[in-house]
Amino acid sequence: MAATEPQPEAFRVLIDRPTLLQRIAELAREVRAAFPAEPPCLVAVMDGARVFATELARHLPGFPAAHAVRASSYGHGTQSSGQVLLAASAIPVEGRPVVILEDIVDTGRTIDKLRTWLLAHGAVEVRVCTLLSKPSRRVVAVALDWVGFEIPDEFVIGFGMDVDGRYRDLPHVAVYR
Ligand code: IMP
Repeated sequence: MAATEPQPEAFRVLIDRPTLLQRIAELAREVRAAFPAEPPCLVAVMDGARVFATELARHLPGFPAAHAVRASSYGHGTQSSGQVLLAASAIPVEGRPVVILEDIVDTGRTIDKLRTWLLAHGAVEVRVCTLLSKPSRRVVAVALDWVGFEIPDEFVIGFGMDVDGRYRDLPHVAVYR
């Protein structure tokens, strides 16, 4: 961490941990109810969604592991580059319903690109479950099936979300700066 960076406690808490955990349990119940016959293939956008995906899967039968897909649009800092780079290894989506687990939907470009990719690889349907959404930042219109919290146009850190690899391990969601 740069010497000038503030300590994590300096950042304003936007959503505290008990509130996050309670909402994630609700989301898991809704996802579970939506797929009574066949459990969906879970695809988590790494690294940001790892904490969210693990917590949500804890409430699903058999604690299924989410498949990892890497997407990057934030090269450095808090400004999106506008280009989404996807890196996904073989994910068994052919003929299966898929639920994308995302930490935060901002411009919508990542979800848009990932949904197209999953459908092209044979997913029968793709739904999206995101912990956070910043609707005021949307550039691409994307349908979100489950949203934990809508938040204002603030750059947030913690609960898996980072800025240049820092602050991911904060136990809550805080506003950066
Ligand atoms: P989108 O493609 O613009 O919707 O960006 C989605 C991705 O950008 C997320 O998966 C995050 O990795 C990152 N992102 C967007 N907003 C934030 C934020 O406020 N904090 C941390 N990461 C963010």
